Amino acid sequence: MIISKPMSCTVNPPKPVCGESLVQTLSLFLSQERLQHSLRTAQTAVFLARKFSAPVEKAWHAALLHDCARELREKDLRSLVGMDTPEPDDKAWQEFPILLHGFAGAVMAKKLFHQEDEEILEAIRNHVTGTPGMGLLSQIVFLADFLEPGRTWLPAERREELLALSLIGMLKAVLESTFDYLQKEGKRIAKSSLLLYDEVVCGMQL
Ligand SMILES: [Fe+2]
Ligand SMILES: [Fe+2]
Repeated sequence: MIISKPMSCTVNPPKPVCGESLVQTLSLFLSQERLQHSLRTAQTAVFLARKFSAPVEKAWHAALLHDCARELREKDLRSLVGMDTPEPDDKAWQEFPILLHGFAGAVMAKKLFHQEDEEILEAIRNHVTGTPGMGLLSQIVFLADFLEPGRTWLPAERREELLALSLIGMLKAVLESTFDYLQKEGKRIAKSSLLLYDEVVCGMQL
C-alpha cells in the first residue's frame, strides 16, 4: 500500500512492530508535535487502564497508534476507508472528512503496523467521535486523547479533577466539554457522540 503523505514513503515494517520500532515507524507518518501527542496519549491511556482494570499493554498500543492516519490527505483517508464510509447519513462526517482518520487509522494499523487485535483496532476506529456500545479499551483511548497533559485547553487542576472521576463520570464530562467546544466553534456534533452521551447518561440513571 502506498500512501502519499509527507516524507513520501512506502513502509513495510517487520512483524511485529513494537516498542521503539513502532515509534520510529509512526514518526514517518506524523509530525513531531503529533507524535508527542500520541506518546502522551499512550501514557495517559496506561494510567486509565490501570485505574479501570483494562489491559495496559493494549491500551498503550491502541493509544500510540490512535492518530496514525491523522495527517493523511483526504484522498488517502477516503481510499483507506473505501466503500465502508461510516455514518453516511450524518452531515458532520460529510462536512469534516478529517473525522475519517479513526476508521482510516484502523485500516492503516492493520495493514502497515500488522496490528491484528480487534479491540485495539476498534479503539483506533472509535477514538474520534466515540460511539455507543464501545468497549472499555475504546473508552480509555477516547478519554486519554482528550485528557493527555499537552492539551492546552485543559487546565492542570481541571484535568486532575476529571482523572479522579469514575469511568462513566469521566465520559460524561469529556463529552460535555467536547460538545461545548464544538458549539462555540459553530461545528456540528457527530450523531455517534450524541448517542454515546445518551448511553452514558442512561447508565448513570440505572
Ligand atoms: Fe484523532
Ligand atoms: Fe489524538
